[in-house]
Amino acid sequence: MDVPAGSILPLGMRTSIEKGKVRVGITCALCHAAIDSRSGRVIEGAPNNDVDPGLVLAMATNSAAMFRQTGVNPTKLPLGDRTYINADGEIARLPDAKAVEDAVDADLLSWPPGNFDSTGNMVNNPSQNPSSYTHKAWPYGWSGNAAIGWFHGLTTLNSNVHGTNSDATTGADSSQALLNIDKETYLGILFQNSATQAFRLPEGAKPSEFFEKIDPTPGEPGMNQVIKMPGYPKGSPFILDGLMANSPGFPVGEQLNGMSAFQNSLAPPPVQTASTDTLKRGAAIFSKAGCVECHSGRYFTNHEVIAADEIGTQPSRGPAQAPFARILIAPQTYPSNVPVPLPPDPPVLSVPTDITPQRSLELAFAISNPAGGYKVPSLIGLAVTAPYLHDGGVAASSEALKRDKDGFKVADPNQLGMAGTLLNNIQPDPSASLRVLLDRNLRETTVAVNRANSDLQQSNVDGSGHAYWVDTEAGFTPQDQTDIIQFLLSLDDDPEVLPAVASN
Ligand code: HEC
Ligand code: HEC
Repeated sequence: MDVPAGSILPLGMRTSIEKGKVRVGITCALCHAAIDSRSGRVIEGAPNNDVDPGLVLAMATNSAAMFRQTGVNPTKLPLGDRTYINADGEIARLPDAKAVEDAVDADLLSWPPGNFDSTGNMVNNPSQNPSSYTHKAWPYGWSGNAAIGWFHGLTTLNSNVHGTNSDATTGADSSQALLNIDKETYLGILFQNSATQAFRLPEGAKPSEFFEKIDPTPGEPGMNQVIKMPGYPKGSPFILDGLMANSPGFPVGEQLNGMSAFQNSLAPPPVQTASTDTLKRGAAIFSKAGCVECHSGRYFTNHEVIAADEIGTQPSRGPAQAPFARILIAPQTYPSNVPVPLPPDPPVLSVPTDITPQRSLELAFAISNPAGGYKVPSLIGLAVTAPYLHDGGVAASSEALKRDKDGFKVADPNQLGMAGTLLNNIQPDPSASLRVLLDRNLRETTVAVNRANSDLQQSNVDGSGHAYWVDTEAGFTPQDQTDIIQFLLSLDDDPEVLPAVASN
């Protein structure tokens, strides 16, 4: 974990005193802010590559409660001794607590640093912490599933962080529909080995009744402070699981919308990479190589989702949101002046869906195409967001490549890919990593190095696909390649040069 200059606590960690107890918790900055190693200052919004969420979670007493974020289906594991009252009202036995814990830990330990699995579909596929340079960068989420409603989907994503990710109990009412695990078994697995003794499921109890007794937020689903959206337990493309994170005392959406506005104010540090002439040459190559077809406009995205089988990158996260398609209804919300707790008959508004192309919305939930898709990301801040692609597999250290008379070659394969950088405690170099993105020969070796690593096999990281080359075979010189890389690295909040097509 990183500690900012002058601080006594790691980045993204907060303490408070509540009812006489010291509480330690994490904030968004744990993953969405980094420390500049030279100055010790915090770069807000840059992904934190040093934090290792898989390792931190695996050290927890009850990592089993995170099983949805891994590839473990506890109902396929051997039963243990612990009894509970199941959904049919019968006494049954839960999956063996130690077997679940060990299996979940094994998956968590395979995650590379800087990656976290935000999709609870029982597939082990963490993705890279993205930047928080969200201004005009919709849709949100690597698959583009957060695309409508307040702040063009940003508020949706913020709710998802709290609703779905930080509190597994919010998934109880939809566990049958999403995971094919009934509510009692689901809660039983979560609570049978709770870290806090008072939250540990007693022998022979009915998990949902036990949960009601210990729930710190009685009357609402889940432990976190949430409100039920119209139609709950169905979800909608606005609030996927139908539960909006919202503390009592704040009108509907005020906290989430405040967080959206804050993130939209974040920008990467200014960069001075190269001469104006070099940047102009680089911008011209960006257009000539066809990058502008997707990375168009001032923020370098056409805001669309591309089918996973077309973009060809690591396929496992493309359909990650598909289970939600089973519970989606037409999106509705309460207006933002409605107080929380909600009044008995709150007014309801429809959330328009036509602010994003229907095709992109369907791909995000793998509705029209079972492979799903990946959104075209904004390219602002590339100088601080290596490694690249959603799985973070495109990476190289500053010593991985060497230049000879024909161009760039691999100098040290052990410093290539996720395998040779973050898994090896070496920071990826933005320039070398972009070269690996754009050069098919360098990429081929990189993907092979990643695929040879058993942890990366287990966590579905390989850095494949996105075959848009700026290399000799595509008719570009090594100098062209260097120029476009300089251009890409110059894309801060106020780029000095924009491609001719992108600037109008
Ligand atoms: C443990 C690491 C971690 C923490 C803590 C975390 N995030 Fe994230 N965040 C991620 C990852 C990984 C993704 C990519 C998920 C995906 O798209 O599947 C992500 C995606 C996002 C996105 C989408 C960005 C985009 O451009 O698509 C937003 C917005 C976001 N997080 C906001 C937050 C907020 C707000 C908090 C705190 C309340 C937070 N995150 C806490 C890891 C984290
Ligand atoms: C057909 C649309 C399309 C074209 C053409 C295209 N891209 Fe992309 N680009 C994408 C998508 C989609 C992603 C996200 C893929 C993923 O993460 O799996 C992406 C990701 C990237 C990333 C990684 C961003 C990050 O934060 O990890 C960079 C850099 C990039 N593209 C640059 C380029 C350049 C340079 C070109 C031209 C040589 C280009 N792209 C051509 C669609 C496209």
